[in-house]
Amino acid sequence: MRNCRTPWERPRFGPEGQLLALFTRMEMLLFCVWALLALNPGPGATEEIFEVSIWPDQALVKLGQSLMINCSTTCPDPGPGGIETYLKKTQVDKGPQWKEFLLEDVTENSVLQCFFSCAGIQKDTSLDITVYQPPEQVILELQPAWVAMDEAFTVKCHVPSVAPLENLTLTLLQGNQELHRKDFMNLAVASQRAEITINVKAQREDDRCNFSCCAELDLSSHGGGLFHSSSAIKVLRIFEFSESPQIWVSSLLEIGMAEAVSCELARVFPAREVMFHMFLGDQELSLFVSWKGDTAWANATVRAMETGDQELSCLVSLGPMEQKTREPVHVYNKPRLEESDCPGYQTWVKGTEQLLACVPKGNPTPTLVCTWNGVIFNFEVPRKATQNHTGTYCCTASNQLGSVSKDIAVIVRGLDEGISSAIFVIIIVALGVGVITIALYLNYRPCKIERRKLPYRQKEKNKEEESQFAVQQAEKCNAHNC
Ligand SMILES: *[C@@H]1O[C@H](CO)[C@@H](O)[C@H](O)[C@H]1NC(C)=O
Ligand SMILES: *[C@@H]1O[C@H](CO)[C@@H](O)[C@H](O)[C@H]1NC(C)=O
Ligand SMILES: *[C@@H]1O[C@H](CO)[C@@H](O)[C@H](O)[C@H]1NC(C)=O
Ligand SMILES: *[C@@H]1O[C@H](CO)[C@@H](O)[C@H](O)[C@H]1NC(C)=O
Repeated sequence: MRNCRTPWERPRFGPEGQLLALFTRMEMLLFCVWALLALNPGPGATEEIFEVSIWPDQALVKLGQSLMINCSTTCPDPGPGGIETYLKKTQVDKGPQWKEFLLEDVTENSVLQCFFSCAGIQKDTSLDITVYQPPEQVILELQPAWVAMDEAFTVKCHVPSVAPLENLTLTLLQGNQELHRKDFMNLAVASQRAEITINVKAQREDDRCNFSCCAELDLSSHGGGLFHSSSAIKVLRIFEFSESPQIWVSSLLEIGMAEAVSCELARVFPAREVMFHMFLGDQELSLFVSWKGDTAWANATVRAMETGDQELSCLVSLGPMEQKTREPVHVYNKPRLEESDCPGYQTWVKGTEQLLACVPKGNPTPTLVCTWNGVIFNFEVPRKATQNHTGTYCCTASNQLGSVSKDIAVIVRGLDEGISSAIFVIIIVALGVGVITIALYLNYRPCKIERRKLPYRQKEKNKEEESQFAVQQAEKCNAHNC
């Protein structure tokens, strides 16, 4: 009601004192009466009772949308009227007793006045405009996404745009179970955000649990409906990773040979999700991964192609965790006694300084032991070759990977032997030629008698010579073949 709101200049009256007080009261009364008379255009309408009303009587406007207002009066011949608001308004229509306005882009709650005057009397009525924003986006965050067992994780739900906050309820859910519920009815609105945060201790059972958040906006008390919206499901991952992976490998790897190696991670959860990578140097190995209980392991086969020191490494990862273990390995060669470095037949020249030629191959360098007639023979010391050194030597090369043996036949031959045998052959040949010449000569001698006797003798002599030759020949062979 805005009766008597027009400012008025006080009229002057004569005497002062008590009379003045009386006059002042009268003045006010007169002023009111005068005002009513003066502002009433219609004659005799002062007694008229009129109403001012607004439609709609409850205004619930979605954020940013517009609203039509019909401000009307029952006054048959109304004076000035309209609405008072700081919102952008446009009069779209009017009748004798009403005015219709369009309010655009309503973004805030406000109170609007609708007023009309009738016979100099102004009346108004107000309308509460409530702006609402249904929860469209509901954001759920799990921090961290992978949480170590017995550590705390945070579940946070946040609705970026929702109004009115007082009518919002946020519910956190784990699976289908309510974890926490929050409403914003009794809280100071200014300091509030549509947000809920709780901390939970991670248990194994929570692994792979679905977390979600539900936002509910109940506008029934404002003449509106019930809106709800849910966040996307977030899956919590829980892990345990307290140990370093362990590599199992023989400290001796043989070159070119397939060797089984493995990498094991104990006290890990979930074991079946552990990822393994194994390398020998830069070369990645193909793995066969298994798990049982809280242990996961990977088996692989390595085939080292280079001797020397190398590194076997195992990289293990699970969720945010990653660990690498390295293990030095030594790649070895089994001992070998090859014909090129350790010939199986060796000829020594009698009287010269000789060594048994045998260098074993392998990594680590093998040790070599040679025996001769069951006695260890120090092959490293050069010795003067004698006939006695002829024979078969047995050499054995060994290293950490094993041993190999080989028989080496040594023949000692005299340096002069060759020359003497050549002379011997010449003598024999000469002798043979001589004998044949004599035989031929005797065969053609004119004397027949002696011829009969002589060939016998001659033959006997020849026989003697031949047998002698045979013996010599045999001796010569023996000498060669010993
Ligand atoms: C506004 O309200 C009055 C009174 O109820 C009604 O007569 C008039 O038709 C309304 N105007 C519109 C545009 O609805
Ligand atoms: C909505 O909020 C208003 C203001 O706090 C409150 O009076 C009303 O009861 C609420 N309505 C519901 C349904 O919660
Ligand atoms: C989690 O949600 C997915 C998809 O809605 C569903 O398939 C799965 O069974 C749920 N897991 C649990 C543990 O409830
Ligand atoms: C050869 O061996 C014999 C007996 O086996 C021995 O008496 C002789 O001294 C040895 N000779 C040499 C040069 O070693």
